[in-house]
Amino acid sequence: MDLKPLIRDIPDFPKPGILFRDITTLLRDPEGLRHTIDLLTQKFTEANLQPDYVIGMESRGFLFGTPLAYKLGAGFIPVRKKGKLPASVHAVEYELEYGTDCLEVHQDALQPGNKIAIVDDLIATGGTASATAKLVEKVGCELLGFGFIIELRELQGRDRLPDVPIVTLVEY
Ligand code: PRP
Ligand code: ADE
Repeated sequence: MDLKPLIRDIPDFPKPGILFRDITTLLRDPEGLRHTIDLLTQKFTEANLQPDYVIGMESRGFLFGTPLAYKLGAGFIPVRKKGKLPASVHAVEYELEYGTDCLEVHQDALQPGNKIAIVDDLIATGGTASATAKLVEKVGCELLGFGFIIELRELQGRDRLPDVPIVTLVEY
């Protein structure tokens, strides 16, 4: 099944010059949603990625990271934007294609030696994913790999990531 036709392009959102790849239309499609999660799971299994925990980044990473964790028999850990998590956090600053922000994870969610996979809907500049990788590595976890539904190749985000397997489903 070709997923690309289910991803909607919105020019000039959220800023002029950004072509926004909208996954809400993919999520809304029952077959598209099922196929996306099944294919992501299959590619993780083929790459021998068997994490203890899947980390997903707010907010769209939650939509794909949680069902992937369920399918892999792993737990899910949310990485959230500043000030959203209630307990003590580790924090890291990062740059977006269209701004800067701060990501946080609960300190007690990650223990040294945990095997981690990082999942998001999309990799653009790689700022979000590389910042999350820094959080994971700072606490001594083992980063097994990354998963993205969409990769924007011309932004070369993968070049900013550590040298571990990267699973992607759709490329532009
Ligand atoms: C988007 C997207 C990724 C990130 C990718 O999230 O969901 O997390 O940007 O860009 P990068 O590779 O340049 O870092 P956004 O921060 O817009 O938040 P949202 O998921 O809450 O919309
Ligand atoms: N996050 C960063 N860049 C994006 C884009 N072009 N479309 C959707 N989400 C994004």
